[in-house]
Amino acid sequence: MIKVMSVFGTRPEAIKMCPLVKALEADPVIESVVCVTAQHREMLDSALAYFGVKPDYDLNIMKRGQTLSSITADVIMGLEPVLAESKPDLVLVHGDTTTSFAAALAAFYAKIPVGHVEAGLRTFDRYSPYPEEINRNLTSKLATLHFAPTELNRANLAAEGITKNVFVTGNTALDAFVYTVKPDYTFADEKLRTLDFENRKVIVLTAHRRENQNGGIENICRAVLALSQAHPELQFVYPVHLSPAVRNVVFPILSDKPGIVLTDPVDVADMHNLLSKAFFIMSDSGGIQEEAPSFHKPVLVLRTETERPEAVEAGTVKVIGTDFDRVYAEAETLLSDTAAYRKMADAVNPYGDGHASLYIIDAIKKAL
Ligand code: UD1
Ligand code: UDP
Repeated sequence: MIKVMSVFGTRPEAIKMCPLVKALEADPVIESVVCVTAQHREMLDSALAYFGVKPDYDLNIMKRGQTLSSITADVIMGLEPVLAESKPDLVLVHGDTTTSFAAALAAFYAKIPVGHVEAGLRTFDRYSPYPEEINRNLTSKLATLHFAPTELNRANLAAEGITKNVFVTGNTALDAFVYTVKPDYTFADEKLRTLDFENRKVIVLTAHRRENQNGGIENICRAVLALSQAHPELQFVYPVHLSPAVRNVVFPILSDKPGIVLTDPVDVADMHNLLSKAFFIMSDSGGIQEEAPSFHKPVLVLRTETERPEAVEAGTVKVIGTDFDRVYAEAETLLSDTAAYRKMADAVNPYGDGHASLYIIDAIKKAL
C-alpha cells in the first residue's frame, strides 16, 4: 500500500482536491489520509461536506484577519507532529496558497516527498497574484512530483530546470463537475432561487484577491453599480467572500441596490450550476477561469495578468484589470455585441477532459 496524505486548507484547494481524494480512496493500492489546515473554516467545511470528505487531521488554524506569516507558521508547526505520527509515503499539496507552500516545506523538513497538484502556473510577476506567484514557485522547488494541468505549465517548469517527474494531467477543477452539475438543479441558497434565468440576464461577479484590496474591488463595485443603473433588466449576483477586507468594501457600495443580489459564499454545487446558467462572469478568481469555459460562458478577468493564458488563447477569458471605465466598457461590449459574445462563449475548455485525478494516481503509482 502507498500511503498518500492530501493537505489543503482553502475553498479552491478543497474543490479541486476532493475529487482526487475520492479517487485515492477508491484505489485498492492506496491508503488515503486527509489533513486540512483550515486556513479557511466555513468555506472549507462547505466543500468538505458537499463531497463527503472527512479529514483525518484538522489543524484548525484560521484566525479573523490572519496574516501570511501567521498562516505559514501555524501550518508548519501544526503539520510537524501530524507527519511524524502518520508517516505518509507522499504528501500532496495543491496550487499556490500559503497552506500549499507551508505544507510542502513541512513535508520537506520531514524528508517526505511532495506531489504538487496544479503545478507550473506562472505570471512571472512576483507581486501579482500576491503572494501566490512566489508560493507556487517555492512549492515547485520543494516538490518531487509535479502534476501540470497543461503543456504550457510543463514548459514553465522546464524553463526553471524542472524536467523530472512532470506529468501533464489536466486540471482536477473539471473532475468536480460530475459531482456538482445537474439538469433541473434547485439552488440551496434562497437568494439564488429568486433569480429569473428565463427572462433576465444573470451576471455572476466574484472578487477577493489581496492585490485587488487596495482600490480594485472598490472600482469593480462602482462599475457594477453603474452598469446595473444603466441596465435595470440585468441581475448581478455576487457571492461575497468572508474576508473582512472584502466585505468591508463591497457591502457599503452594493447592499440593497436594485438588480444586485449579494449572497454569502455559496456551496460548490450552487456555484457551478450558477455559472452554467449565467450570461457571463466577471471575476478575479483563478478557479473560475478554468471552470467557466466548460459552460461556454465568457469571463472578464478582473486582474492585470493571468497565469492561465491557455484560456485567453482559447478566447474564453479576457484580462481587463480593475479600472472603472474598462470594466464598464468591456461589460457593455458583451451585452451589446453578439459576435464578440459568441466568440468568447464558443471556445473549448483547454484544461483537460475531467479525468485529471486518474492520471495523477497513475503517475503516483509509476513514480513510487
Ligand atoms: C486565500 C488564498 C488565496 C485564494 C483564496 C481563495 C493565501 C495567502 N491566499 O485568500 O490564494 O485565492 O484563499 O478564496 O493562501 N474567512 C472566514 N471564513 C472562511 C474563510 C475566510 O472568516 O471560511 C476570513 C477570515 O477572517 C480570514 C480572511 O477571511 O482571516 C482571509 O482568509 P485568507 O485565507 O488569509 O485569505 P484569502 O483572501 O481567503
Ligand atoms: N466558489 C464557490 N462558492 C462561491 C464562490 C466561488 O464554490 O461563493 C468556487 C468556484 O466555483 C471555484 C472556487 O470556489 O471552484 C474558486 O475559489 P476562489 O475564487 O475563492 O479562489 P481562487 O480560485 O481565486 O484561488
